[in-house]
Amino acid sequence: MFEKKSLRDVDVQGKRVFCRCDFNVPIDKEGKITDDTRIRAALPTIRYLLEQGAKVILASHLGRPKGKPSPDFSLCPVATHLSNLLGQQVVMAPDCIGDNIQLLADQLNNGRIMLLENVRFHSGETDNNPAFAAQLAGLAEIYVNDAFGTAHRAHASTEGVARLLHPAVAGFLMEKELQYLGGALAHPDRPFVAILGGAKVSDKITVIENLLPKVDAILIGGGMAYTFLKAQGVEVGQSLVENDRIALAGDLLDKAQKQGVKFLLPTDHIVAETFAADSPSTSVKNVDFPTLGMGLDIGPETIKSFEKQISTAKTVIWNGPMGVFEFDNFARGTFAIAKALAKSNCMSIIGGGDSVAAVNKSNLQQQMTHISTGGGASLEFLEGKILPGVAALTDK
Ligand code: 3PG
Repeated sequence: MFEKKSLRDVDVQGKRVFCRCDFNVPIDKEGKITDDTRIRAALPTIRYLLEQGAKVILASHLGRPKGKPSPDFSLCPVATHLSNLLGQQVVMAPDCIGDNIQLLADQLNNGRIMLLENVRFHSGETDNNPAFAAQLAGLAEIYVNDAFGTAHRAHASTEGVARLLHPAVAGFLMEKELQYLGGALAHPDRPFVAILGGAKVSDKITVIENLLPKVDAILIGGGMAYTFLKAQGVEVGQSLVENDRIALAGDLLDKAQKQGVKFLLPTDHIVAETFAADSPSTSVKNVDFPTLGMGLDIGPETIKSFEKQISTAKTVIWNGPMGVFEFDNFARGTFAIAKALAKSNCMSIIGGGDSVAAVNKSNLQQQMTHISTGGGASLEFLEGKILPGVAALTDK
């Protein structure tokens, strides 16, 4: 299935290796990394490179600094954190291109490691400028892409360099992500269930279209459920509805029926008076939806029915929360899904930022088969799109 060369296919001993990671991690005002999942996820590749005696040149972006250096977006805290995790010094380069950086790269010894400063301090990164990509490529002899989270961006360090520096291979994290996500889509153990949530239908249309021919059931929660319910003629009060997508939601429901895919919408809701953490709320069935209420979570009956689908599923992909889980009063549905997945024996694949945050918040990470490090990237993958960062790698 995986047609791209992997890190295992190349001899990196004594070679300068440019390794693109996704160290786009949350950092607080004191410079403390508040979630290092992405850094830890890159460790197997980094450790392997060091053990093999490569000269490791790490690159990443952080945030969106708009093509100019900005201390707020410096990768310095990542270098410090990584040094601690690896138990060896990670040299922090003051930039990612230029004569000084070239010198640092040339002077790197085998089994030593440096981190380039944020590639997005240069507009050539997001512009995928060939001259900028050539400067990055000039630093090394081998390209490794382990930045699954940024693989949907055709940027210089994710795509441009791979076109110039050969071999260009997938790191272990990249490989693992593609194996789980790709494996589930290509040959899932059945029943194969997709759980989709989040605020908007418009964000998930292509995902649903791509998944319909592949899955046995789709369970819908979150704000997006209300546009579907509206398409079925259910009154949903003041809930979030995308009026310009109601017809499309109806089409998707028809398609699901024609293709024999179970399409489960919430049958009850936690309805609040206002969009606020402390808003009074009640649990109501579809037929009793109050005109002035807004649905902020799935209700207990829906939770039960979704749990039942999960308990018999062999493969589940989950993307998007079931309610406004940032508010404790409206988090029950989302956490119930996380718990049901943790309890089941299915292959559970969590793709996308908010569902990952929910799993982390409920401390159930260990019970999931795979938690993707990609938000936008996993969504685009589920949409069936080719990720430019993957496409540019050297074929096997
Ligand atoms: C992400 O966090 O999804 C990736 O690091 C990509 O970041 P971007 O959306 O700023 O390109």
